Amino acid sequence: MAGLDSTADHLQDPAAEIEALRARVAEADLAYHRDDAPIISDAEYDALKRRLAALEAENPELAAPDSPTQTVGATPSERFAKVRHAQRMMSLGNAFSREEVAEFAARVRSFLNLPAAAPVPMTAEPKIDGLSLSLRYEDGQLVQAATRGDGTVGENVTANARTIADIPQTLTGAPEVLEVRGEVYMTHADFARLNESGADRTFANPRNAAAGSLRQLDPSVTARRPLRFFAYGWGEVSAPLAPTQSGAIARLEELGFQTTNPRLCHSVDELIAVWSDLEQRRATLGFDIDGVVYKVDEIALQDRLGFRATTPRWALAHKFPAEIAWTRLDRIEIQVGRTGALSPVARLTPVTVGGVVVSNATLHNEDYIAGHDSRGQPIREGRDIREGDWVQVYRAGDVIPKIADVDLSRRDNPEPYVFPTTCPECGSEAIREPGDSVRRCSGGLGCPAQAIERLRHFVSRAAFDIEGLGAKQVEAFFADATLPIREPADIFTLASRDAKGLARLKNREGWGERSAENLFRAIEERQTIPLARLIYALGIRHVGEVAAATLARHYGTWEALVAALDAAAPAASRHRAADEAVAAERAAAATQGRRASVSAVRAAVWAANPPVPPDSRAAWDDLTGIEGIGAVLAESLTASFAQLAERAVIDRLVAHLTIEPATPVAKADSAIAGLTIVFTGTLEKMTRAEAKARAEALGAKVAGSVSARTDLLVAGPGAGSKAAKAAELGIRVIDEDQWLAIARG
Ligand code: IVH
Repeated sequence: MAGLDSTADHLQDPAAEIEALRARVAEADLAYHRDDAPIISDAEYDALKRRLAALEAENPELAAPDSPTQTVGATPSERFAKVRHAQRMMSLGNAFSREEVAEFAARVRSFLNLPAAAPVPMTAEPKIDGLSLSLRYEDGQLVQAATRGDGTVGENVTANARTIADIPQTLTGAPEVLEVRGEVYMTHADFARLNESGADRTFANPRNAAAGSLRQLDPSVTARRPLRFFAYGWGEVSAPLAPTQSGAIARLEELGFQTTNPRLCHSVDELIAVWSDLEQRRATLGFDIDGVVYKVDEIALQDRLGFRATTPRWALAHKFPAEIAWTRLDRIEIQVGRTGALSPVARLTPVTVGGVVVSNATLHNEDYIAGHDSRGQPIREGRDIREGDWVQVYRAGDVIPKIADVDLSRRDNPEPYVFPTTCPECGSEAIREPGDSVRRCSGGLGCPAQAIERLRHFVSRAAFDIEGLGAKQVEAFFADATLPIREPADIFTLASRDAKGLARLKNREGWGERSAENLFRAIEERQTIPLARLIYALGIRHVGEVAAATLARHYGTWEALVAALDAAAPAASRHRAADEAVAAERAAAATQGRRASVSAVRAAVWAANPPVPPDSRAAWDDLTGIEGIGAVLAESLTASFAQLAERAVIDRLVAHLTIEPATPVAKADSAIAGLTIVFTGTLEKMTRAEAKARAEALGAKVAGSVSARTDLLVAGPGAGSKAAKAAELGIRVIDEDQWLAIARG
C-alpha cells in the first residue's frame, strides 16, 4: 500500500515526533473507546502506533509508562461504575504482511529457546470488529459484565449485557470462577435496520453501533438493540478449561457460547491460508472482521511467553489491508493546538470509503505536504500535495482517512502549497526549532487559539471536569465581552464577577437562574482538587495523565512539587540548552551528510557555562530518577514553571484551590519487587528475554551491568567479570535454579 508507512518518514527529532504521536494516539483512543466516535481510521491508528513503538525502541530514554504503547484503550467513562478486572484485558500486536507473521512465529520459538523447525501449533480465527467484554461467572451464575476500559479498570455494564441473547445467564459444568472474554458486535443486516429505524442517533458503522448500544445508561435501550457476542478467550478461571487454546474454546462452546471457531494450524503457510480464505469471504460473513488472530495453542507455552506492556507474546492480529478511494483536496487549513503546534488539515470533497463518508484528513506537517521528511528523504517519491489535487485516501473500517498518494496527471494548480510562517490565529511568528518537524506559534498564552485549547484541556474529563462547563461553553466564555474566561483562574472568579455585573448570566439566552446556579456550584465543588488532576490540567507538554499521577505520588503535595521544580530549574535549563544544541547539530549533520558530534556539542555547552549548583543538580536527579519521568518531560515541566507568564497563570489559579495531597503507592508483594537484578553467564532453561520479562513482571528492574545499586546477580555457567565484581561489592549472587524457583513462584 503506497504511502501507508510514509507517516513514518516525515519527522526527524525523535522526542518531538514521539510527543506528537503520543498526543494523536491518545486523542484517537479517547474518541474510539470512550466516545464511540472514532476520528481516524484503524489503519492510520495502527501505522501511528507502530511508528511510535519503533521510535521508543530506538530511543529508550524517551520511553514513558503513560505512552499509548504501554496502555490499552482509554480511561473508563465516569457515566458507569468502575470494575477492576481480576486479570488485565490486553490488546494485540499487529502484523500486515506474511513476513511479519513469519517473524512472529520465529520470535515465539526463539523466546522459548526452541529450534526454528520445532512444531508450535497455533490457532487462527477471525478478528471481530466490535468491542471486548469480560463476563464473570461465579458458581455458574453471571455476576458481572465489564468493558475493557483501560485494560485494568473497565465499565460495569452487567445489566446491559444481561439483555444480550448470546450471553448465557447460567452455565452448567463450568469452573467455580470463570471469566469469559469475547467481542460484542452487530451484524450488517441488524445495523442497517437499526439506522433505518430512526434510532436516536445514526452510527457510522456496526462497531460504533455495538459500542454505543452496550454503553447505554438505560438497559432497556440496550435490550432493543440487536447485539451479539462471540467468545474468544478467558480471564480468571478457578480451574483450567483445557490444556490448549482450541480445547478451551471448544469447552466454551459446550457451555453455550458462540465462538470464533478457531482452526488449528501447523505452519505459517496454514495460518496465511486461513487469512486468505477469510479475507475473500469477508464481505459475505454478515459482520465486520478486520483481520485474523493467531494464538499459540498450548496454554503452558502461552504462560511462558507471557505479556509485553499491553500485548501477549503468544498472539498476533494479522490485519486486512485498508480500503482506498480518490477525491479532490479542496483546501488546506491550519489548526493551532494547545502547545502552539500548527497542524495542517485537508478538507476533502466528501467521498465514500468502505461505506463511510469522509471529508477531512490530517496532513501531519509541512514536510509531509512538501513530499519529503526533515532529513530530505522523499515521501510519495517526492510528490508534494497542493490545494485542488486529486488525492488517494484510505481507511480500514473506520471513519477519517489518511492521504496516501496524489495523482499528478490531474493536477492543474501551478502553485505548491506555502506553509505559513506566522500563526493564522494571532499573527505571531511561527517558529520551527532545528530538528523539530513541527512549526509552533510563538504567541504563547497571548495566542487565542492556544489559550482556548489550554482552557478546553483544563475543563476536560480527566482534568477539572466541571459539569456544565465543557469545551463549547469555554469557547463561548472566552469570547464573552462582559464575563470572560481567558485563563483557568477566571473560572473560579466567574460567580463573584457575575454577581457584581449588570449582564447577569441567568438573564442570558440559553441560561436561566437554575442553570447559572448549577454552574457556579459545580465550579465551587471543583475548587478542591486532587494533586494529580491539577498537574494534568495545567496542560504542560509531555505531561499526560499517567505522568501527572506519577509526579503527584512522588512529591505528595503541591508545595513539595513546586519547591522541587524551582530547585531543579537551573540544572534543567542547562540540560535543555545542551539538548537544543545537540538537536541543531543533528539537523546540520543530516543535511550535510556527516555524522553528528553529539558528545562534543553537549560538552561544549556544559563547559561554556558556570557549574550548576549541587542542590539544583540533586533536585534534577531526583526528578528524572522517577520511574517514567524522562528528561524531555522534566525539561518541559521545569520550563513551564520557570517561565514568568506561565508561572503567573499557575499561581493565580492555585490561589483559588484546595489541593488534595496524593497517597503513596503500596509496594508489590513478590520476592524481587523493587530490586535491581543483573543476569550474567548462560541461562540454560530460559532465554535472557524470557528471564528479563519475568523479572520485570515480578516488579524488578533489570540492569545490564553490576554497580553499587545492584541487589541481585543471577549467574549462569561461564559468568565472568560481573560475578567477580558482585562478590567484591558484597552483592547476593544466585544460580539459575535458584532464579527459576523465584521466577516460577
Ligand atoms: S484475543 C490477550 N481474539 O481485538 C489477547 N481478540 O486488538 C486477547 N478481538 O481487545 C485478545 N476478535 O477486543 C482476540 N478472535 C479474537 C478477537 C479479538 C476481536 C479484539 C479484542 C481485543 C482486540 C485487540
